[in-house]
Amino acid sequence: MIDLFRPVAEACRVEVAPDQRRPIGVVGAGAIVDLAHLPAYHRGGLRVVGITDIARDRARAVADRHGIERVYSDLDSLLADGEVEVVDVAVPAQAQPGIARRVLAAGRHMLGQKPLALSSATAAELADLAEDNEVVLAVNQQLRFDEGVAAAHRMMELGWLGEITSLAIQVDIWSEWSDWPWMLELDELEVWNHSVHYHDLVRWFLGEPESVYCAAGRTPGQAPRAETRTITTYCFAGGARALVTCNHENAWGDNSATLRLEGNHGAVRGTLGLLYHYPTGRPDTLEVTSDLLPTDGWVPYPVTTRWLPDAFLGPMA
Ligand SMILES: NC(=O)c1ccc[n+]([C@@H]2O[C@H](COP(=O)([O-])OP(=O)(O)OC[C@H]3O[C@@H](n4cnc5c(N)ncnc54)[C@H](O)[C@@H]3O)[C@@H](O)[C@H]2O)c1
Repeated sequence: MIDLFRPVAEACRVEVAPDQRRPIGVVGAGAIVDLAHLPAYHRGGLRVVGITDIARDRARAVADRHGIERVYSDLDSLLADGEVEVVDVAVPAQAQPGIARRVLAAGRHMLGQKPLALSSATAAELADLAEDNEVVLAVNQQLRFDEGVAAAHRMMELGWLGEITSLAIQVDIWSEWSDWPWMLELDELEVWNHSVHYHDLVRWFLGEPESVYCAAGRTPGQAPRAETRTITTYCFAGGARALVTCNHENAWGDNSATLRLEGNHGAVRGTLGLLYHYPTGRPDTLEVTSDLLPTDGWVPYPVTTRWLPDAFLGPMA
């Protein structure tokens, strides 16, 4: 069985060949850039040439911590640096479209944070702008590159589970929204800013659905203005179903975040370790059982890397 895991582990590995490494300029020196983007790029051998943030001192502190040479006074100075080929943007969602328009118009490739925009119309406008300027515009949907998730996907591709019948992602956690004061003011919160990762996974595993239904709710006394709990169901041609539930107001100390994928010959079940204690987290878990393999019940797959920071190399790669 250990030998059978080899192609799974190989499929999870993300590497950037030296001739594919483009110099990066970063916009935003907030928590996620500090904790995830920059450590992941360092591990992947990518070069960050400079950084900018409207909070200059934060940009300077992050640059010092990660050995980044240049701190630009603003976006114009970053775009004036001919060495920057890819602009990595990680700012509050409200600010991203304005930055994206300037980056794309300057003919630079851009990796934006999720959500790309706060309306589909703006997102489509940015996609058109990228096409017109012949540059790549990508969104940081890095959960696909989290090892536990990527391994589950590879097991599915290898046929270990047979025909897929269901995917369930169930997250019940406490989220400290006040760490992102700008999120407290958004009119729509949970899907755009959190479970967008799970909705990306549903489409990665199962493709385009025939129908999607989502119900959202708030909790009395919660800090954010918008929804903090959502339940989404997907129906697919052929009968497969998916469920995404996410509650961020679990005040009772028993965070859980599980993923379960079932087929007619097997299943995988796992946990998203990051969400048990954000942002330090714990390792993911993943187990597989299959009547096509010598599993004899649930067999653990050895996950050795984490969503944060390791998975963040994936979208940039
Ligand atoms: N797993 C993930 O993919 C993940 C996790 C956390 C956050 N995020 C996303 O990353 C983005 C940043 O999150 P964060 O946790 O770092 O937030 P943060 O509040 O810690 O940092 C945001 C930074 O952006 C800067 N900023 C604001 N407007 C700016 C502008 N116009 N130009 C330059 N800098 C500007 C702020 O000064 C701040 O330093 C958000 O879109 C968030 O949704 C993604």
